[in-house]
Amino acid sequence: MRLKYRKLSYREMLYTTMEVKVLNNYDELSKKSAVFVAKRLLQKDNLVLGLATGDTPKGLYRELVKIYQTGLLDFSEVTTFNLDEYYPISPENAASFATFMKERFFDHVNIPEDQSHLPDGSAQEVEKECKEYEDLIHSAGGIDLQILGIGTNGHIGYNEPGSKWGSETRLVTLKEENVLEDVPGEPARKLNKALTMGIKSIMQAQEVLLLASGRKKAEIIARTIDGEISREVPASILHLHPSVTIYLDRDAASEL
Ligand code: GLP
Repeated sequence: MRLKYRKLSYREMLYTTMEVKVLNNYDELSKKSAVFVAKRLLQKDNLVLGLATGDTPKGLYRELVKIYQTGLLDFSEVTTFNLDEYYPISPENAASFATFMKERFFDHVNIPEDQSHLPDGSAQEVEKECKEYEDLIHSAGGIDLQILGIGTNGHIGYNEPGSKWGSETRLVTLKEENVLEDVPGEPARKLNKALTMGIKSIMQAQEVLLLASGRKKAEIIARTIDGEISREVPASILHLHPSVTIYLDRDAASEL
């Protein structure tokens, strides 16, 4: 008898590069993702890490700090590049991503200050700042591991739907739902712009770890993982990246 094998579609073949893991809850997702990063650091002292802000990676930073406190990890040779920053904003402002990173992570591990980078929200010359940021990433040897969250509209970094696949670090206008309504300590103003690494900058990382948690991410996760590769879902381009791991909690995976 001849065995029949179903032929994989081109799309399915592409999809085999994504490793999707479903964890029980946010706590487990945070712990597993911290261990994921810790393993990479134990393999390479001078790891170049791409970092994300937002609610999702808060637990990852908390757990990484815990592992660091056990004495297992040394960040002294690590270089970091954050994905994005509001613009214009002072890095000292409480709402800046620079402050978020300091409070949640940098203040608690031994990364030398001059080895942590974010796009400078106070830069006067935007184009120059964006080009220098790209150059800095390249001169560090490129990103080894990029951590990503995902917006409910599929954005990665602040690459909103419609972003070009070839985009690099640049100034972007945020979609309504991502606009910061109030800048602490400043007269009322809306912050609707940001500097963000581009899709290309993200795709050049050696490895990507994308995290998503909660019911509100379930639909976009299903569209990203099961849907077509489309500029309407920026995260869908990750199907074409050779090394992507996606950690989801059960809620975020509930529509897969
Ligand atoms: C943010 C960031 C993204 C992040 C996303 C999701 O504002 N610019 O890098 O991944 O939106 O955020 P959250 O993790 O809070 O859902």
